[in-house]
Amino acid sequence: MDTQVVIIGGGPSGLLLSQVLNRAGIATVVLERSSRAHVLSRIRAGVLEWGSVELLREAGIGARMDVQGLPHDGTYLTDGDRMVHIDFKALTGRRVMIYGQTEVTEDLYAAQDAMGTTVLHGVEDVVIEDLDAAQASVSFTVDGARRTLTCAYVAGCDGFHGVSRKTIPEAKRQEFERVYPFGWLGILSRTPPVHDELIYANSEHGFALASMRNPNLVRYYVQVPLSDKVEDWSDDRFWTEFKRRIPAQAAAALVTGPSIEKSIAPLRSFVSEPLRWGRLLLLGDAAHIVPPTGAKGLNLAFSDVHYASEALIAALAHGSTAGIDGYSARALQRIWKAMRFSWQMTTMLHQFEGEDSFAAQMRRATLAHLADSETAQKDLAENYIGLPY
Ligand code: FAD
Ligand code: DHB
Repeated sequence: MDTQVVIIGGGPSGLLLSQVLNRAGIATVVLERSSRAHVLSRIRAGVLEWGSVELLREAGIGARMDVQGLPHDGTYLTDGDRMVHIDFKALTGRRVMIYGQTEVTEDLYAAQDAMGTTVLHGVEDVVIEDLDAAQASVSFTVDGARRTLTCAYVAGCDGFHGVSRKTIPEAKRQEFERVYPFGWLGILSRTPPVHDELIYANSEHGFALASMRNPNLVRYYVQVPLSDKVEDWSDDRFWTEFKRRIPAQAAAALVTGPSIEKSIAPLRSFVSEPLRWGRLLLLGDAAHIVPPTGAKGLNLAFSDVHYASEALIAALAHGSTAGIDGYSARALQRIWKAMRFSWQMTTMLHQFEGEDSFAAQMRRATLAHLADSETAQKDLAENYIGLPY
């Protein structure tokens, strides 16, 4: 056997899995299609659940996060100018950490370099075979040469458009999907945050989110129609639109500046079952997508790493395959609960094109109930800070 686990995809789930497995003495090879610079240029998630924070610390990559990350004790949900504070710390005893996916990925690459693990970039035409044989094989092209690696297990960490999920025969896969009729236009700007905590804003002009990366770098989003292109949105147009969607008291404190990144992401809920097929395990976006409202995408990828690494270590270091057999059912339990939360947050906060007059009232009533009910706040807080593994 050439290696114990071939990991397809060098995004956050593939790199963290490699990190955890190598620390347990299990040999891996990571196959990544893009260059490292390209992986690190993608601006994505910004909020880590405390379970993710602890997982990163246990994997030996918490040092920079603990210095540069911003622990947040709560967040705001707003309806027009009405701001509802959700105090995670008071309601659950836990908090979240603001630390960008880019930073996590950079820390993971540095740790992999230090450990001397194998991460191949520029890998093309990956083909996964022999998943029901005594050993699996993965063939690919790198630097113009075709290579094959045999291994005990294959980890599919190659995102929504990867090859791993599609290796499972279509007749054996069940897919569940909802596509939302809008996207998020996001900008990154070197300006101070409009507020000390995140603001999820429901307004008569549509949804907006005020997030941040550090005390002088903000990540702000507005809901846009799917037909919009980034070129349709000048910085001026973005700032004007963002300002009228957040509460007046926050808008009064808004500092604007040039955007240093601007992109549109479509919103989708998607789950493909099962997560395991013979010697293949699927993790992260390769198996499921959530709409970003509620910041669950990256965190779900990390809880998959927790379950999958436990199963792989039990199998490869201790000879027990019960965890592999149970991986799909175990991970899916948590995945579906995060699906529900992300869908509920999306529905509660966004305008749907062509909606009836009742829909806006339901959003307002949900937020009014949240403002008045500690039970409702606790439910939201418990989901936002992350359900237990
Ligand atoms: P990915 O990050 O997609 O990594 C997969 C890796 O596999 C990539 O590096 C890719 O190059 C590689 N790959 C793909 N195909 C192949 C192949 N055939 N061979 C080899 N390698 C391959 N989540 C949030 O919580 N908040 C957000 O604001 C947010 N914004 C997002 C914006 C966008 C545009 C996207 C796409 C996602 C966003 N997410 C967000 C979700 C979050 O970023 C993902 O859940 C997270 O990146 C999942 O990590 P992953 O490692 O499973 O997948
Ligand atoms: C960010 C993204 C989210 O989807 C979210 O719910 C919170 C923060 C962000 O990019 O900072």
